[in-house]
Amino acid sequence: MNLFDTNEAPEKNLIYKLTEELQEHNYKYYVLAQPVISDFEFDQKLKELQSLEERFPQYRLPDSPTLRVGGTVTKNFPVFTHKKPLLSLGNTYSTEELREFDNRVQKGLGGRSFHYVAEHKFDGVALSLHYENGVLKTGVTRGDGKQGDDITANVRTIRNIPLRLKGKLSGASIEVRGEVFMLVEDFRKINREREDIGEVPFMNPRNSTAGTLKLQDSAEVARRPLKFVAYYLDSDSLDLPDSDFEGLAWLQESDFFVSPYNTRCLALEEVFNFIDAWDSRRNELPYDIDGIVIKVDEMSLREELGYTAKNPRWAISYKYQAEKALTILNTISFQVGRTGAVTPVANLEPVLLAGTVVKRASLYNADEIARLDLHEGDTVSIEKGGEIIPKVTEVIARKPGARKFDFISECPECRTPLSRKEGESNYYCTNHRLCPPQIKGRIEHFAHRKAMNIDGLGTELIDQLVSKGMISDYGDLYALKKEDLITLDRFGEKSADNLLAGLEKSRSVPYSRVLFALGIRHVGSTVAEKLSRAFPSLESLEQATLEDLTTTPEVGEIIAQSVWDWFHQHPETIPLLGKIRSAGLQLSLSESDLPKVLSDKLQGKSILFSGKFDKYSRDDLKAMAISHGGQIASGISKKLDFLVAGEDMGPAKKTKAEDLNIRIITEDEFLSLCQ
Ligand code: IVH
Repeated sequence: MNLFDTNEAPEKNLIYKLTEELQEHNYKYYVLAQPVISDFEFDQKLKELQSLEERFPQYRLPDSPTLRVGGTVTKNFPVFTHKKPLLSLGNTYSTEELREFDNRVQKGLGGRSFHYVAEHKFDGVALSLHYENGVLKTGVTRGDGKQGDDITANVRTIRNIPLRLKGKLSGASIEVRGEVFMLVEDFRKINREREDIGEVPFMNPRNSTAGTLKLQDSAEVARRPLKFVAYYLDSDSLDLPDSDFEGLAWLQESDFFVSPYNTRCLALEEVFNFIDAWDSRRNELPYDIDGIVIKVDEMSLREELGYTAKNPRWAISYKYQAEKALTILNTISFQVGRTGAVTPVANLEPVLLAGTVVKRASLYNADEIARLDLHEGDTVSIEKGGEIIPKVTEVIARKPGARKFDFISECPECRTPLSRKEGESNYYCTNHRLCPPQIKGRIEHFAHRKAMNIDGLGTELIDQLVSKGMISDYGDLYALKKEDLITLDRFGEKSADNLLAGLEKSRSVPYSRVLFALGIRHVGSTVAEKLSRAFPSLESLEQATLEDLTTTPEVGEIIAQSVWDWFHQHPETIPLLGKIRSAGLQLSLSESDLPKVLSDKLQGKSILFSGKFDKYSRDDLKAMAISHGGQIASGISKKLDFLVAGEDMGPAKKTKAEDLNIRIITEDEFLSLCQ
């Protein structure tokens, strides 16, 4: 297809050119992992395309890379009826059952020769994709197998799902099925970030994938590193190869990720070799697999074999045994974190599992307790997954008359009734100010290595300091005296000196880490870093309006609201800020963090750059403005002093600026202001 037409509007050609260019870069980045331009250059081009599409929506291509960044908010996902049902596979755990499967297949095919394909069974969430005339139209979840949710906006944000087909599939109408999953490393990173901001971690990569796909804000989905692996190709209109294995190669040619380990086997023995090889090596894979799928390769033979009521007769899955143990559930305890989130933990009769004695297991949240339907004294099965803490997977036996465990309704520490926000799977204690574990948790977070990194201040010491009433928040730490400290249990002069030295050292921790240490909900270290750039002092952050905060890069509405609330809605913040200020912490960007100052010609001026510029890149111009004392605005508001208009600034911006009487200047005029 020739996308370019010299008779068309220049914008149309520009949109088409940028779309194609960005797609190529996406492919190099996400599929080949060999980017040829910097992230910054990519973002610039993407923004350029975005602004062109805003002005000329009629030219936006259905596979535009701007769709990848999301932005669609769906209230309820529409229901989609699958063209062919998404069946599940029969499971086996033994080679014996696999031989029986093989016998049934042999018999069904009357001794004709055929192949198997052995594939990894990805532990993720099934997804069906529909392409029409080569373009991605719909992405649907499995649902009940007959009908699923149309989650197209979310699916488009998954970077390794092609939006337009290539190669032999170019222009085709097809259905592709596969699994959405998350790399274990990405999953751990998300959980670390969640813990940093006081959120309850996700259970496992599959769970966080499922949760992510159901989010209603596709921009949030775009931020999560989901991946897709294709394992099925079907078409009513296209002549596909009879071998599924070859069909998948077509998908691969069209930039789909197809597992490189899929193996075509001539006999069952080869399938066994595959199973054995991966049983010991599956831990080396960067993603979770929970078994092997074995399918007849020839599509025509699949037709002949057909289906039972639930499963295809031509495929089966062999599940690997997880390391399991049986034990008794004694009690459930509830822990309160620093944000007030309550997490249930199972206390078990000690049992040996994978080389260690297990006494406790995660129960994650109220939904999980309800799902498991736990009763006192139940015999439960526990498993060790990729995570360090084992989990309870099911109830095996129950004593008659056993008492059911319900989630608690009051905080176990301070008796405040628990509350649960809509859409959250956790209960919270809202007594943030006085609930002891929350107080201690905030101080622990403050002292953490990634935050103020205070040597000598561990959990036990914090417990003592809080329970003896010597401190009630982290602001009090800096008023501690040596003579008070030595009165503590097991605390000598040396420990006291050590702690005081640790506190002294923390006074030079940079402003962005202080921001993180404050423990504002949703403010992780990355967000703290961004906030410190946009608001170079704690004072400016305190004075920021909700709008200022929302328009800061990487700061969405939830974070903005949480920061604003912290300063203006929490009564404990005011005394805390007083203590922090007098403690002499770094509460603004220091000289070395700031760009070099050349003059104060733009002192106190708020400047916004929009569009493309001739002489300098937008970033160079921004740096220039800062070095002359100016501040970079992130949007048009009354407070803006100059709007520096580049070549293709959007008309909407211009009108808005004119309405607010803001001075609109050219690049040259800006440069002369700096002279
Ligand atoms: S083939 C009719 N291949 O496992 C056959 N499934 O119960 C369709 N899965 O729902 C499935 N990896 O979500 C197939 N390589 C693979 C797979 C795979 C994971 C999932 C899939 C399906 C379930 C089977």
